[in-house]
Amino acid sequence: MNAILSGPVAPSAQRRAEFLAAWPAFAATEALDRLRQSEFSRLDRQGHVYLDFTGGGLYGESQVRRHANLLASHVLGNPHSRNPTSRTATELVERCRRRVLEFFRASPEEYLVIFTANASQALKLVGESYPFAPGDEFLLTYDNHNSVNGIREFDRAHGAHTTYIPVAPPEMRVDGAALQRSLDRARPGRHNLFAFPAQSNFSGVQHPLEWIADAQAKGWDVLLDAAAFVPTNRLDLSRWHPDFVALSFYKMFGYPTGAGALIGRREALCKLHRPWFAGGTIEVASVQADRYAMAAGAAAFEDGTLDYTSLPAVELGLDFIEAAGLDVIHQRVRCLTGWLLQRLAAFLVGGAGEKVEHH
Ligand SMILES: Cc1ncc(COP(=O)(O)O)c(C=O)c1O
Repeated sequence: MNAILSGPVAPSAQRRAEFLAAWPAFAATEALDRLRQSEFSRLDRQGHVYLDFTGGGLYGESQVRRHANLLASHVLGNPHSRNPTSRTATELVERCRRRVLEFFRASPEEYLVIFTANASQALKLVGESYPFAPGDEFLLTYDNHNSVNGIREFDRAHGAHTTYIPVAPPEMRVDGAALQRSLDRARPGRHNLFAFPAQSNFSGVQHPLEWIADAQAKGWDVLLDAAAFVPTNRLDLSRWHPDFVALSFYKMFGYPTGAGALIGRREALCKLHRPWFAGGTIEVASVQADRYAMAAGAAAFEDGTLDYTSLPAVELGLDFIEAAGLDVIHQRVRCLTGWLLQRLAAFLVGGAGEKVEHH
């Protein structure tokens, strides 16, 4: 909500009129100007123009106040116990899990929310647990974040094969026919994992989410890196059904910074084998018998103690952007990004520039 609000350097009335004529949808997002005054006035007080939306969103002041009030009015104990303070923490964390599913319109019968420290940890959970073996395939686009690229090290360590699908300049998009040919090479009876970013943090390109069902129909498990996409776009998991989704909450609403999630299809999560166990991930482990039994559900993937004082702030963050309106945020960013691209293009060619659409 930072880059998307007019900055302290006010444009001239004429410039603003030209901008609004070119991007009329912007006018319908003026509620965000009021939000800037009520929630983000520190930007103006300190003279910041903050544009790093994919790097990290900014939190509204009320998010922090509501979280502080929640902490001050509850006694929270480690959820790995059963005393009243522990039960309160568990209730808040579980409520937050339900809220995340609801926000992404994911059915609780189909999806499970696993809390992680960030998107990278969510991606690593998939990489380290995916049952790669010789003959298996890891397919990914060129424009992935390094935390997706890093999965190839797990893949190689288990003798599986990695294939990259190129993106072509100047648009940095994937050739659809080449992608379909690669998807056709899924090996029957083997484990095939296809990973792509819903929005690339390298190019800003948003890939077609239709790839998800296409790939699944051809025998792939699909890992969708949604970290750069979800801050300004609705990811509707009742419409799209990737097997694994990775994201960081701080990119969406700035606070808390130590929380992300792996949202996984229950069926797909059953394929994963954790390479180790830890406190919290098991029902029981025997030192003498050298055996252990994994916990059921999300707990099997959440090593040690969750950040149970921070996680309730995720629910407050989701409330915050829901109240601002994700569609309004999306429109604002679409207009400003389009305008920026248009101006940059004009700058490069020394002319007025074409109107560049950004979705
Ligand atoms: C597309 C994408 N994937 C993954 C990440 C990694 O996120 P984090 O650093 O929060 O783990 C980022 C961060 O910029 C990103 O943009």
